[in-house]
Amino acid sequence: MSNKEIYIIVAVDSKNGIGKDNAMPWHFKKETQYFKEITTTVKDPSKKNMVIMGKNTWYSLPEKYRPLKDRKNVVLTRDDSLKIEGVEVYKSLGYAIASAGDDIETIFIIGGATLFKESLTHPNLTGLYITFIENSYECDTYFPEIPAKFSNKQLIKEEEENGIKFKFMLYK
Ligand SMILES: NC(=O)c1ccc[n+]([C@@H]2O[C@H](COP(=O)([O-])OP(=O)(O)OC[C@H]3O[C@@H](n4cnc5c(N)ncnc54)[C@H](OP(=O)(O)O)[C@@H]3O)[C@@H](O)[C@H]2O)c1
Repeated sequence: MSNKEIYIIVAVDSKNGIGKDNAMPWHFKKETQYFKEITTTVKDPSKKNMVIMGKNTWYSLPEKYRPLKDRKNVVLTRDDSLKIEGVEVYKSLGYAIASAGDDIETIFIIGGATLFKESLTHPNLTGLYITFIENSYECDTYFPEIPAKFSNKQLIKEEEENGIKFKFMLYK
């Protein structure tokens, strides 16, 4: 079992919506930049972080941005035939986490809803980086309820873009 820190990172709207038609319902440069910064930054420059995502989230990423650079990309599917160049594909979250070797600093679970739901019950989940977007959008995919044990809530920063406010929080 990996002894690394494992975080969920997600952005939710005011009704916990996270996606629509297998895409993000919104686009904020500051939010995208924050996601990149949090998931890429390492303390030890000889290491990288790992990002784990479900198959749908992989295909939701614009082709020119995938694999997400400077991070080890891992995709989960139960489809044995799925091969993606430059990406490791695993059948379960457990296998993906166990695959993280000494070259990996922190593990980030980046979505989508199916994978978030399972990850929230993982005994080694360290915490959640949650961006609360203070607006509502048409969504068909929602973030599950956050377990009460993540009661230490830290405001990292507040931002505004195109008149919409959002809060970057860390729950541990
Ligand atoms: N707002 C945000 O921060 C955020 C972040 C990420 C994604 N999203 C949005 O979320 C939506 C996608 O969510 P989703 O729930 O449809 O898809 P998803 O979780 O990305 O992918 C679901 C698929 O991934 C595979 N999978 C997931 N967990 C697995 C596990 N533990 N073991 C093996 N395979 C696993 C399965 O593939 P197989 O069926 O092939 O077995 C499953 O059908 C999109 O709209 C996307 O834009 C939003």
